[in-house]
Amino acid sequence: MKPALLGACLLAWLSACSSPSPEPTATETPCNDNSGVTYEGFVKDFMASYCTRCHDSALHGADRQGASLYHDFETQLGILNVADHVDEWAAAGPASVNELMPPNGAKPSLDERTKLGLWLACSQENYNRASDAGVGEELADAGPTADAQIYSDAQAVAP
Ligand code: HEC
Repeated sequence: MKPALLGACLLAWLSACSSPSPEPTATETPCNDNSGVTYEGFVKDFMASYCTRCHDSALHGADRQGASLYHDFETQLGILNVADHVDEWAAAGPASVNELMPPNGAKPSLDERTKLGLWLACSQENYNRASDAGVGEELADAGPTADAQIYSDAQAVAP
């Protein structure tokens, strides 16, 4: 490999792996069901610590501090509905480190962002399997109260 090319690859690697992505970028995290990262064990607290002071369906108008509508993270369903956006704005993985969210206050560590990416990767697969199996419409229409049941339906169709 020519030195210039090597330099370019190194640069690409550095920007992908060490410095935050300047814009929302998919982390390309592969699903690893053995990661041990669960909603109850990790993601719920992550969202409560870093996200739901703005992204909560109970917050309206100025109380959202500009947080995008339909991006509410106090339930699993709320996260799953926009799992790709959450990955692109706040998670870390092989292709990017996304630190755009939260915009202020306490920030998650790289380890926490990586765990979020792992959980999202598998949840996204479960969600897709659920839609393929016809549970998807239910997932899309359900209000927050139904999501625990529907999420377990989604997991039930996952292998
Ligand atoms: C201080 C309030 C605040 C907090 C805390 C916060 N956000 Fe945001 N969020 C915003 C604002 C404001 C925007 C709109 C930013 C923009 O459009 O540039 C936004 C946008 C987003 C978007 C993009 C939505 C779209 O329109 O595509 C995602 C995804 C997101 N936030 C996820 C998160 C996650 C995950 C966390 C926790 C790690 C978080 N946010 C914490 C205020 C917040």
